[in-house]
Amino acid sequence: MDGVKRWRWWAVFILGALIGSQFACGGGNDSTKANHEALVSRIAFGSCANQTAPQPIWDAIIKFDPQVFIWMGDNIYGDIKRPSKMFGKERTIGPWKNVPRFVPTSQDEMNFKYHIIKNHPAYSRLRHNLNTKAGIYTSYTFGPVGRQIKIILLDTRYHRDPLSSDGTILGSTQWTWLEKELNGPSSAITIIVSSIQVISNLSATTGPLFYMESWGRFPKERDRLFQLIADSKRNGVFFISGDVHFGEITRYDCDVGYALYDITSSGLTQAVEKAVPAPFHFVVRFLAWWTPSTMRVIGKNCRHRSCTYGQPNFGAIEIDWDATPVALKIEVRDTDGIPAIGVNISLSELQAQSVNSAATLRVGEHQKHCSLEVDLPWIVRYRLTILFYFSVAGMFFSTLGSIFLKFLLFALVGLNFAAAVVFRLFLRKCKLD
Ligand SMILES: *[C@@H]1O[C@H](CO)[C@@H](O)[C@H](O)[C@H]1NC(C)=O
Ligand SMILES: *[C@@H]1O[C@H](CO)[C@@H](O)[C@H](O)[C@H]1NC(C)=O
Ligand SMILES: *[C@@H]1O[C@H](CO)[C@@H](O)[C@H](O)[C@H]1NC(C)=O
Ligand SMILES: *[C@@H]1O[C@H](CO)[C@@H](O)[C@H](O)[C@H]1NC(C)=O
Repeated sequence: MDGVKRWRWWAVFILGALIGSQFACGGGNDSTKANHEALVSRIAFGSCANQTAPQPIWDAIIKFDPQVFIWMGDNIYGDIKRPSKMFGKERTIGPWKNVPRFVPTSQDEMNFKYHIIKNHPAYSRLRHNLNTKAGIYTSYTFGPVGRQIKIILLDTRYHRDPLSSDGTILGSTQWTWLEKELNGPSSAITIIVSSIQVISNLSATTGPLFYMESWGRFPKERDRLFQLIADSKRNGVFFISGDVHFGEITRYDCDVGYALYDITSSGLTQAVEKAVPAPFHFVVRFLAWWTPSTMRVIGKNCRHRSCTYGQPNFGAIEIDWDATPVALKIEVRDTDGIPAIGVNISLSELQAQSVNSAATLRVGEHQKHCSLEVDLPWIVRYRLTILFYFSVAGMFFSTLGSIFLKFLLFALVGLNFAAAVVFRLFLRKCKLD
C-alpha cells in the first residue's frame, strides 16, 4: 500500500518535470522537422534548481535574454521522502498522514483537476510521448535552413542500469532513436543534452573517496556514443550537462576527428561552495584545483585557478552567425550574469579532420584532452585520496604529543576537515553506488 502511494507521488513529480521540460523548450514538437524558423543565437541552460530555495539567478538569465532555455535535469528536488516537504506544512504527524491534503480526495475533485489539465497543449504532447515510448528523450530543431540548431535531449535515467554495472545508459530503443537523429537531416550545430557529464570522469580521480554518476562510469556506452557521432560524420556537435553542483568545461580531442566539448552548468541554486561557510570556500577551490583532470579546459580567463565554478551558475551560448567562420561563445555565468569560465569556439573547429591525435601518442605519454584520467600515473590520479589519508594519519600521529607533530596536526587538520566536508557533501548528494 505504501509502495502504491509512493508511486503515485513519483508520478506527480515526473509529470511536473515533463511538463516543465515541454514548456522549457518553447512548446516544441517531438519531430525532427524544424518547428521554429527564426534564427536562434542565444541559448541558456541550467540544472539543479531547488524549487523551495530563492532563485535570484533568473534575473541574470532574463537579462541575457535567451531565445531558448534548456532544463537539463534536477529541475525539481522531488526525491524527498515526505510530500509535505514539497507541498506545504503537515497537518498531522506520522508518515503519509497529510496525503489527503495534496492528492485529490474524491472522484469529483479528481475529475475537476483532470478537466483543467487535459485541455492544456503540454498535456496532450505529454500523453503522446508517453504512449509511444518509455523515457522522455526528444529533439528540437530551431532556425532557418543552413543555420539550424538541433537540440537532442537524452534521457539518462529511465533505462539506465545500476552504476558499476557497465551496462546501458540509454537502452536499446533510445540508442536506435539517437542513431536516427544523428544520421538525420544535417544542422549547423547539434547540441546533445545529457543530464550527467559526458567527457569528464571525475570518479577516476576522486575514487575511492567518492564516485559520481557520469558517462565515464559506463565506458562501453561512452565509446558507443563517440563512435556513433564519428560514424554519423555529423559536424558541429557538442554536449551540455549538469548534475555535479559546479560549472566546468571539458573537451576530448581523440575520438570523432574534432574536439568534443562538454559544458557543464550546475546548479541554478545548488552549488558545492554553498554547502560550506564562506571562509572555507578557498578550501573547496583548492581541492577542485588539486583533483587532477585530463579533460578540463584551463584558460586564462577563468575566475579561479581550478577553472571550475562552485557557486550558482547558468550556461550561456551565443552564436555569431555573421562571423566568418561562425563563432560560438559558451560561458558559465554567475548570479550577476558575469562569466566565471568560458570558451570561444569557431564552428570550423568542429569539423572532422582526418588526423587522429590519439594515433600519435606514444605509450606512457599523457596528453591534455586526450589521455583518459584512468591512465594517469597513480601518484597523480590518486593525489586527492593520498592527501586525505595523509591528513588522517597526521591527526593520528599528532596525538602522540611531540611539538613537531602538533605543528603538523594544525597543517593537516584544516585540509582533512575540508576533505571531509567535501566528501560528506557528495555523500549527501547520494552519488555513491
Ligand atoms: C507537431 O508536428 C506534427 C507533424 O510534424 C504536426 O502535425 C503537429 O501539428 C505539430 N504539433 C504541434 C503542437 O506543433
Ligand atoms: C531547498 O531549499 C530549502 C529552502 O532554502 C531548504 O530548506 C532545503 O534543504 C533545500 N533542499 C535541498 C535538497 O538542498
Ligand atoms: C572512469 O572512472 C571509473 C572509476 O575509476 C572507471 O571504472 C572507468 O573505467 C572510467 N571511465 C573511463 C571512460 O575512463
Ligand atoms: C571570447 O571572446 C570574447 C570577445 O569576443 C572575449 O571578450 C572573451 O574574453 C573570450 N573568452 C575566452 C574564454 O577566451
